[in-house]
Amino acid sequence: MAIRLDVSNFIARAAGTGPGGGIAAAEFEGAAARFGQAHAALRAQHAAGILGFLDLPANAALLRQVTDFADARGSRYRDVVVLGIGGSALGPIAMRTALRAPGWNALPDGSRDGWPRLHVLDNVDPRTIAALLDTLDLRQALFIVTSKSGGTAETMSQFLVVHEQLARVHGSRMTDHLAFVTDPEKGALRAIARREGIPAFDVPSNVGGRFSVLSPVGTLPAALVGIDVAQLLAGAGDMALRCAGGELRTNPAGVFAVLQWLADTRHGLKVQVLMPYRDALRDMAAWFVQLWAESLGKRRPDGTHVGPTPLPALGATDQHSQVQLFMEGPPDKTVVFLAAGRGEGDVTIPRAYGDIAELAYLGGHTLGELLDAERCATAGALARAGRPNATITLDAIDPWHVGALMMLFEIATIYAGDLYGVNPLDQPGVELGKQFTFAMLGRPGSDAARREWDRMPAPDPRWQL
Ligand code: PA5
Repeated sequence: MAIRLDVSNFIARAAGTGPGGGIAAAEFEGAAARFGQAHAALRAQHAAGILGFLDLPANAALLRQVTDFADARGSRYRDVVVLGIGGSALGPIAMRTALRAPGWNALPDGSRDGWPRLHVLDNVDPRTIAALLDTLDLRQALFIVTSKSGGTAETMSQFLVVHEQLARVHGSRMTDHLAFVTDPEKGALRAIARREGIPAFDVPSNVGGRFSVLSPVGTLPAALVGIDVAQLLAGAGDMALRCAGGELRTNPAGVFAVLQWLADTRHGLKVQVLMPYRDALRDMAAWFVQLWAESLGKRRPDGTHVGPTPLPALGATDQHSQVQLFMEGPPDKTVVFLAAGRGEGDVTIPRAYGDIAELAYLGGHTLGELLDAERCATAGALARAGRPNATITLDAIDPWHVGALMMLFEIATIYAGDLYGVNPLDQPGVELGKQFTFAMLGRPGSDAARREWDRMPAPDPRWQL
């Protein structure tokens, strides 16, 4: 069981010995001392109780709370629905796609071994929500309302819509169909849970939204659909140990963060593509995009603006879409591939049409082999064109490796925050938009935002078509 990181295509080769582009080895080695500072800062923040996500793998009490609930109640439900957004939704989506069978929610009950379907509402589009609620049997549904702050407008609106329907069907017994995942003390959800006796799971107060996937935010829905969450946490714990040392070369999260930071800040490689070559890892890229973008895209105290732009892609699909841009478009990108061991279930391509060259060479290989060959070929082609790329390989797509991968990215994000000189744990840039929304909907206390909104220039008819 291992996760391997191959960055040889990220490091520039000496002239005449291979592909150009990338970070010079000396430049990378030269960043070791700077990385040492970032690592020391992480250790200090952790010691000060700030980076609670690092403690989640060892939090046996939270794990037991989740598994006890899943063991006791899980078999009652045919549908588990997560109400949440952002960091409260993307993790459960990524885990479902990675660790459950393809098309999980469309499978007949028997093919899910009796485990429920898992729906995650990551938006407030009325059409989607109405369509889901129309198809559910509310007598066999559990709604997990997930919000660290316990008051996010989108999630609370989802909850109010569901609450009305549950009240109609179940009356006061609706608490059997609700669970909350939220801050241990603060926020509206915690208050409602206390008042109405709704089971509520803690997101420790020192764990922020996009770093919460290994808390009940991710583990509760995962356990309810039969994912081995103990293994998930074991993998995450193993990766945290691997990243415990301050020596850059042996710290995978450090290598990832330093290379991407150097690429962005010194080489203008500002677009950072994450490209899994497995459908199962597709939503891992969406989860990573939020983590990287919301943590690092910031205005610094000195007024300058920083942050790489993460871009999700999928192999081999994007070889017929974005890869042309990655190869020959502006040299402003890095590409990190996600690869995985093939495991069981590979499909052999039948031998047929042996007389037709375009088909004959395929017969006898497997689809997994083709996918891996395409990934290696794309990585090699990018390297040859001087486009830095790296590959992270999971021996298998299972809970252990997925937990380890998520921990790698979370730790890398903290390092990158220090390297960029920003706080990776906050998101002040989303505040103004939130305040304007509150003002439009008349939330008490939003008068200042309302006044500011009213002062904004009206749309100019000359520029409206
Ligand atoms: O990472 C974050 O903090 C955000 O993306 C949150 O996850 C998102 O805004 C949802 O917040 P909450 O979990 O408080 O409802």
